[in-house]
Amino acid sequence: MRDDDLALNTRGPADERIEPPASFVEQANVSGADVAEFEHPEDWDRAAALLEWTTPYDAVFDEETMEWFPGGGLNATGSCLDRHLDRRKNQRALVWEGQRGETRTYTYLELYREVNAVAAALRSLGVGEDDVVTLHLPVVPELPVVMLACARIGAPHAVVFAGYSADALAERMNTAGSAVLFTCDGYYRRGDAVSSLTRTETACVDVEGDVTTVVVDRLGSDYTLGDEDYQYGALRDAHAGETVDPVERAATDDLFYSYTSGTTGAPKRVTHTTGGYLAYAAWTSHAVLDVKPRDTYWCTADIGWITGHSYVVYGPLALGTTVLLQEGGTDFPSRRTPWELIERHAVDVFYTSPTAIRTFMKWGPEYPERYDRSSLRLLGTVGEPISPQAWQWFYEHVGGGDCPVVDTWWQTETGGHLLATLPGVHDMKPGAAGMALPGVSAAVVGEDGTPVGPGRGGYLVIDTPWPGMARELSTGERWAGRTEEEAPPLSAFEWAYPTGDGAFVDEDGYVTILGRVDDVLNVSGHRLGTMEIESAIASVDGVAEAAVVDVDHGGSRGLFAYVSPTDNSPDADSLAAAIGAAVENAIGRFARPDEVVVTAELPKTSSGKIVRRLLTDIANGEEPGDTSALRNPEVVGEIESSIFGD
Ligand code: WT7
Repeated sequence: MRDDDLALNTRGPADERIEPPASFVEQANVSGADVAEFEHPEDWDRAAALLEWTTPYDAVFDEETMEWFPGGGLNATGSCLDRHLDRRKNQRALVWEGQRGETRTYTYLELYREVNAVAAALRSLGVGEDDVVTLHLPVVPELPVVMLACARIGAPHAVVFAGYSADALAERMNTAGSAVLFTCDGYYRRGDAVSSLTRTETACVDVEGDVTTVVVDRLGSDYTLGDEDYQYGALRDAHAGETVDPVERAATDDLFYSYTSGTTGAPKRVTHTTGGYLAYAAWTSHAVLDVKPRDTYWCTADIGWITGHSYVVYGPLALGTTVLLQEGGTDFPSRRTPWELIERHAVDVFYTSPTAIRTFMKWGPEYPERYDRSSLRLLGTVGEPISPQAWQWFYEHVGGGDCPVVDTWWQTETGGHLLATLPGVHDMKPGAAGMALPGVSAAVVGEDGTPVGPGRGGYLVIDTPWPGMARELSTGERWAGRTEEEAPPLSAFEWAYPTGDGAFVDEDGYVTILGRVDDVLNVSGHRLGTMEIESAIASVDGVAEAAVVDVDHGGSRGLFAYVSPTDNSPDADSLAAAIGAAVENAIGRFARPDEVVVTAELPKTSSGKIVRRLLTDIANGEEPGDTSALRNPEVVGEIESSIFGD
């Protein structure tokens, strides 16, 4: 996308300002005075102070190596479990609601015991420090338990979202060199049992070397274990009662890997560190989500993505709160589910996505209004831009006008929130993500790499390092997917991270996000690389070329695939079916295109680059932009009439 496209997208700055309710301000974890003077980087020791260190760090930040808290030593479970045993061993750490109406609860002491048993089990399997353990599990309590057990023995975990296919799982295990896999016999999809053992077996065949598999019984189905396989419950029981001393890790050591989509065909692995990441997850949970130990806190994200790592597991457990986990998603089993859970568990903080909020709006305010929501203190959203209308709806019909709404902007690479309003300090502006948090600095730059003025669209860059930054950022990742000539220079900054998002800033420093400006799509909060999907489509017999774009289905985003066939008169229906199946195999069901459009040619520039912008316009039913620079302008009209008729 170029500067002029961004300018076209520019909406006026959010004009409404809403002050945080006085009752909230009084009790907020962070006040204006707390963050009035935030000198970079020394003041980040306030984030580190939220953790339990076993060796004090030598410095907050090393400018040379770009490492946070060098010299420091800690174990993540020391902060998330052991230290809570003194004061809150009988307080609930996790409350899980399964799709079959089951509830399982773990107090901090119970979670500590469970994690120790699994840590001992991991050791018995020969897993040592720095061995990578892969987890492919739905939202069941075993998932956070195994993550923490890995952290306890210093084995980085790599959670692969449960929706990924066998091929995608194998590819990620190979990238990580992982030989141990925790998975399950199956899962429930909207209440129906779906076996996943075949998927696991298929994946393991494609993993280089032998794989030890540990199977969690979710369905209680009958299955035969291979020689290298274990049943989770039996393995855990064999080690019940054992304790494992937390292994001291350097602050700069890897805590986990997370996978996301980048601009290439291959998944992008992101590394988060033990000290910097954990300090940042804890600090932002404290400062932005206002999490308190006595709270019941509910973040609806799947643990398989970064939001679940930072704001279901590590941040809230480091702060010693009670975390609600729900397997079914906010629309299952019924429209009453989210409100019924908020009432029954007296949820204090509710953190969800704009996609979920749009669904709640469609159902109508009568659903939340029928339930007691007086326990709520703060609401949050994440994942994609939220419209001012959806923001207002959430604020009024869920929060009753009494709870601040924090719109949190961040990414897999950033580890935690970077743009948001501090709920006890700043006014809110519906539709704007908020300002750079204290200690963080953001800028919007144009094609020449220099900051553009307020109200002007451009590229969002972050121009100071922060503790939650992925290790890959310090080693100089720049403008992924762009050649040096294509990328705006960032010489105006000593250091800057180009985020891949377009944005504008208003006079008060509030940033409004316009969406991705690279070849990454955001589909209902899931990040998908166009290249990853397009290469899956191109592998189908009969496909010459493909381009995918995202489309706005009246508020929720979906995928549109444009395909040019090798054959002049293909059977479009069977081609579309084969394409859906190929994407499901290569990536997962969640990446299946909603629509496949077969067209003789794709619109291209004279140099042969597919012009996705036009395809996005068409998919959204908008007037396509300028076609004069195309090599084949006539195809635009052809595509339109093939979709909409003449
Ligand atoms: C991309 C990162 C870490 C959050 C979950 C997704 C978009 C995220 C917002 C927001 C507007 C947002 C951006 C970003 N995004 N939060 N509050 N407002 N857009 O993590 O998969 O790494 O995706 O999600 O486009 O670059 P992710």
